[in-house]
Amino acid sequence: MTAADRPVMIEAEGLTRRYGDAVVVDHLSLRVRAGELVVLLGGSGSGKTTTLKMINRLIEPTAGLVSLDGVDTADLPPHELRRRIGYVFQRIGLFPHMTVGENVAVTPVLLGWAPERIAARVDELLALVELDPEMRERHPQELSGGQQQRVGVARALASEPRVMLLDEPFGALDPVTRERLQQSFLRIRAALDLTTVFVTHDMTEALTLADRIGVMHDGRLLQVGTPSDLLTRPADRYVRRLMDTPRRQAAVIDALAGAATAEAGA
Ligand SMILES: Nc1ncnc2c1ncn2[C@@H]1O[C@H](COP(=O)(O)OP(=O)(O)O)[C@@H](O)[C@H]1O
Ligand SMILES: [Mg+2]
Repeated sequence: MTAADRPVMIEAEGLTRRYGDAVVVDHLSLRVRAGELVVLLGGSGSGKTTTLKMINRLIEPTAGLVSLDGVDTADLPPHELRRRIGYVFQRIGLFPHMTVGENVAVTPVLLGWAPERIAARVDELLALVELDPEMRERHPQELSGGQQQRVGVARALASEPRVMLLDEPFGALDPVTRERLQQSFLRIRAALDLTTVFVTHDMTEALTLADRIGVMHDGRLLQVGTPSDLLTRPADRYVRRLMDTPRRQAAVIDALAGAATAEAGA
């Protein structure tokens, strides 16, 4: 079965959010198939976080529909949405007074799982995100930024969701740590067959992770396509300019490398 044959897991139709006169998300429609990783890419204020939060109804849409595995999310109770959709927040958002193990266990505790089941799940999750099991007793401030984000991912995965929403999860990390976490996430996503919407403003991150990229600007989804679609067939000027940024950066690096080679040869 190819990706295109798999069922639609998340469907947004005409999703709109207004605050007073401001339309911050404007008739956004998007389908994400089971197992697919869609990146929402856009500048600050383009409506990425609002869109993500409307998918799991942390924010109520002003208009439009979202369905999850064919069911209108308006008909699903909030605890059911929290169980079925893992969410990694833009700011790190671990509870500072709780240990790593307690942070990871937040949702299972809310769901009333037995203590043995929770303990086993925490061990399994720490292994999955490649954290040493001894970290479970530490507090968030005793971890590096990268380790904290691994805990954030583990916490979001605790109730075995099939769907993950991640809001700029690696934005605050140095480039090397960020790349490691991206690769970890791709591995986890494949192992668990997660359906994912991943928000970023970083073009390289979008190109690295995405099956498809949706470009957002001023609350509108301008174009959705594979990275190569967007690179070769940008649908409008904003998308074209955006897709040109990695080329411009590569040209700067090539020029610097060329100058260095010339100097070394001189
Ligand atoms: N509660 C709110 N009240 C009024 N405006 C808001 C509110 N939340 C977000 N906005 C506005 O909506 C726009 C989109 O915000 P957001 O979805 O957070 O963008 P992004 O995540 O792409 O940076 C921004 O202009 C922001 O100021
Ligand atoms: Mg945001």
